[in-house]
Amino acid sequence: MHKRLFIPGPTEVSHDVLMQQAKPMIGHRMAEYTELYTGIIDKLGKYFKTDKNITVLTSSGTLWMDITARNLVGKKALSVVNGAFSKRMFQTIRDCGKEADMLSLEWGKAAKPEVILKALEQGDYDVLTLAQNETSTGVRSPADEIGKAVKKEYPDIMYVVDAVSSAGGDLLLPDEMHTDIMFFSSQKAFALPPGLSVGIVSDEAIEKARSIPGRGHYTSLPAIFDYYAKKKQNPATPNVSLMYALSYQLDRMLKETPEGRYERHLEMAKMVREWANKHFEMFPEPGYESVTVSTIRNTQGKSVAELNKALAERNMAISNGYGDLKEKTFRIAHMGELTPADIKEVLWHIEDIWEL
Ligand SMILES: Cc1ncc(COP(=O)(O)O)c(C=O)c1O
Repeated sequence: MHKRLFIPGPTEVSHDVLMQQAKPMIGHRMAEYTELYTGIIDKLGKYFKTDKNITVLTSSGTLWMDITARNLVGKKALSVVNGAFSKRMFQTIRDCGKEADMLSLEWGKAAKPEVILKALEQGDYDVLTLAQNETSTGVRSPADEIGKAVKKEYPDIMYVVDAVSSAGGDLLLPDEMHTDIMFFSSQKAFALPPGLSVGIVSDEAIEKARSIPGRGHYTSLPAIFDYYAKKKQNPATPNVSLMYALSYQLDRMLKETPEGRYERHLEMAKMVREWANKHFEMFPEPGYESVTVSTIRNTQGKSVAELNKALAERNMAISNGYGDLKEKTFRIAHMGELTPADIKEVLWHIEDIWEL
């Protein structure tokens, strides 16, 4: 029996989107594919209101951490770390043999422009990385304010924003955030199966990458975008079935509009926050709560594992806390296809099981 997913990815996928994957195969060098793929790039540009370069890769979002390291870090990166995924970025840069410093913040706290500007003064950095929506803590950092402030002082710094668990739910405009790379995965607020990632990339980032050696092939921004400029296709074989699903889902998303999706996500987030503050307490610092996933402090010492077992019998699943936050917190995701009615229902069941 299918369990309705209130976890921060993979998320519910609508039946008609799933069915798009059953279309007969086409060759990825055929005109039919060019039409499909250029259509997707066009729709993504419309959704994010940007003329920046866009690519869809057959990978999950983490590949963009390797891409960041291999294409942009010439001197040293400053990675803002306020949770598990922003830490993964820092570690990936180092694992690629590049230099990186960590600006470590207490988990639950958001990154603010002043702190970042101060840290940037301390070293010769050419890249800044930030998780706009830290899925492990449910913290939303003001990526637009940070981008504006940083680019004013340091126009040459490459600003890389991980929007894996927020894009398609939260309202994110790469032009206003001044990002050089904004990336995300298909299996979160875009409500698609896992397997695709999207990168929105500035001209400056592609140009800078040309001067950085050791970019690999699959992870080379110039290889990706030069090929697209010439052939309007992907350099390597893409997951064509998922591309069909993405194209179809983008039509649905454009119909709902980015603003409409944001409002729906915010409404669900507010419902969970209000409920959490009545029975427990929100984990993120006030004013910086995610609109796609709520992390709740388990102030009543309930068993989250037991709750999930009981929810499973009712065909639902939420998430335990991430890593060290397991049982100390729990997470209710409200993204993608979910609606306020779904949230009302899951909250009712949690109250019933935990006798709140
Ligand atoms: C903020 C954030 N960044 C990166 C990742 C990694 O993405 P993927 O699993 O698509 O590689 C995740 C996954 O949950 C995430 O939430």
